[in-house]
Amino acid sequence: MKGHRDNREYVADLERHGDAVRITQEVDWDLEAGAIVRRVCELKAPAPFMERIKDYPGFRYLGAPLATYRRLAISLGMDPRSSVPDIAEEYLKRTTSEPIAPVVVDRREAPCKQNILLGDEVDLCKLPAPLVHDGDGGRYIGTWHAVITEGAEGDVNWGMYRLMLYDSRLMVGAVFPFSDLGKAFHQRYEPRGEPMPFAAVIGPPPLAAVAACAPSPIPEPELTGMLMGAPIELVKCETNDLLVPAHSEVVIEGVILPNVRVEEGPFGEYTGYRTSPRDKRLTFLVKAITFRDDAIVTISNMGVPTDEGQLLRSFSLGLELDKLLRSQGIPITGVYMPPESTHHMMIVGVKPIYSNIATQIANLAFGSKLGPWFHMVVVVDDTIDIYNWDEVFHALCTRCHPVRDIRVYEHAVGTALYPFLSAHERKYAKGAQVLFDCTWPLDWDPLNEVPRLVAFRSVYPKEIQEKVLANWEAYGFPTE
Ligand SMILES: Cc1cc2nc3c(=O)[nH]c(=O)nc-3n(C[C@H](O)[C@H](O)[C@H](O)COP(=O)(O)O)c2cc1C
Repeated sequence: MKGHRDNREYVADLERHGDAVRITQEVDWDLEAGAIVRRVCELKAPAPFMERIKDYPGFRYLGAPLATYRRLAISLGMDPRSSVPDIAEEYLKRTTSEPIAPVVVDRREAPCKQNILLGDEVDLCKLPAPLVHDGDGGRYIGTWHAVITEGAEGDVNWGMYRLMLYDSRLMVGAVFPFSDLGKAFHQRYEPRGEPMPFAAVIGPPPLAAVAACAPSPIPEPELTGMLMGAPIELVKCETNDLLVPAHSEVVIEGVILPNVRVEEGPFGEYTGYRTSPRDKRLTFLVKAITFRDDAIVTISNMGVPTDEGQLLRSFSLGLELDKLLRSQGIPITGVYMPPESTHHMMIVGVKPIYSNIATQIANLAFGSKLGPWFHMVVVVDDTIDIYNWDEVFHALCTRCHPVRDIRVYEHAVGTALYPFLSAHERKYAKGAQVLFDCTWPLDWDPLNEVPRLVAFRSVYPKEIQEKVLANWEAYGFPTE
């Protein structure tokens, strides 16, 4: 399998699977496009591909590009009907295989160089940045993209950090200090008073966007190659030495200014609220813009579940925690983060072979680099299917003692985005976290003290279960 080279191949594939709607009537960048994408997310409808944008001939929009597991499966070249555990297994297989290094191509082979704006021609208003939600503090060009910079160790970092237009040459971004870009800027560039080169790629190849928002230690160009099953083609920027995907739709180049902050936000956020206030944030000075003919600007509309931010961050945060817990020898059955939790709840299945294994899991989860992104860990035993919310919810409501099994972590790294924090706690990113231990105590006698689960799978002899299953259709029930 070879991942889609660009959003054009991807849209064609989505259409083949009936998972994109081509909108030919003119759509307004001022709220209308955002409203379409929001409704699509809430209905889990096909991705809207908008061919005519008011005031912006020569540009197109692709909304909600990866807002469903179905579209994630298509982007990975899998059967669109693949189950979540199957997609997770494939993702784990690809992201633990040999790294696939990128290749650098000549600029003549790079479609992202079809149009180049330099010097006085640079004007962000030439790009169709949408006003995504009513009440947003500005027009956001970066909602589903990749910001490419040097990492803290001089390596490369691709990340997704929202970008608002401030004026014709300035963008402003919300970058958490514990993110890879935050660390490189605050620890390396700003202390030296040095501007930090960046390239913001709008409309990157679909799996490059998946890599950019994954909390993986693998450098994103290699990670993209592993996900695609082929090297990603990169090309050098016009005004710095950074490399960007050659088949990107739009590339905005420039520097992040040290010791300069301008106001950003508010913005409709992944939690489904507008939580963090307008505040002074990182300033991106633009030096060049390059773009393809008929460029496709990708839009994610964050709000109530499910959009691609929630879906992919849940998916990859869960699987990175899976790798971390296994690396520590914890006998887990798996980790799943439901996107409906807006990536706030980790569900971990484990074979509870020693006491307080749930606490060990929560300590590792909350104490890791992943920790600030979620505040709930639910640990269930290996009899529960972590992907089946009915089973997990039932375990939570029946096995978790309100005093003994709920452990509160009062002082945790948080973000300004947690809706339940007070304004003061948000300002200083002071979070709190909680473990729900839904495993039975090991010192309870399994036969006399652990209550017997009354379920088809647990209270009937195997031969009765098999007989009933074998006769299911004969009884007159429809096939499942
Ligand atoms: C749609 C979307 C928007 C995001 N916006 C931001 C943001 O504005 N600021 C931020 O620090 N992280 C944001 N994130 C999370 C980062 O993308 C994520 O932390 C990062 O890319 C993963 O790498 P890192 O944590 O190692 O830096 C966003 C994620 C998604 C999917």
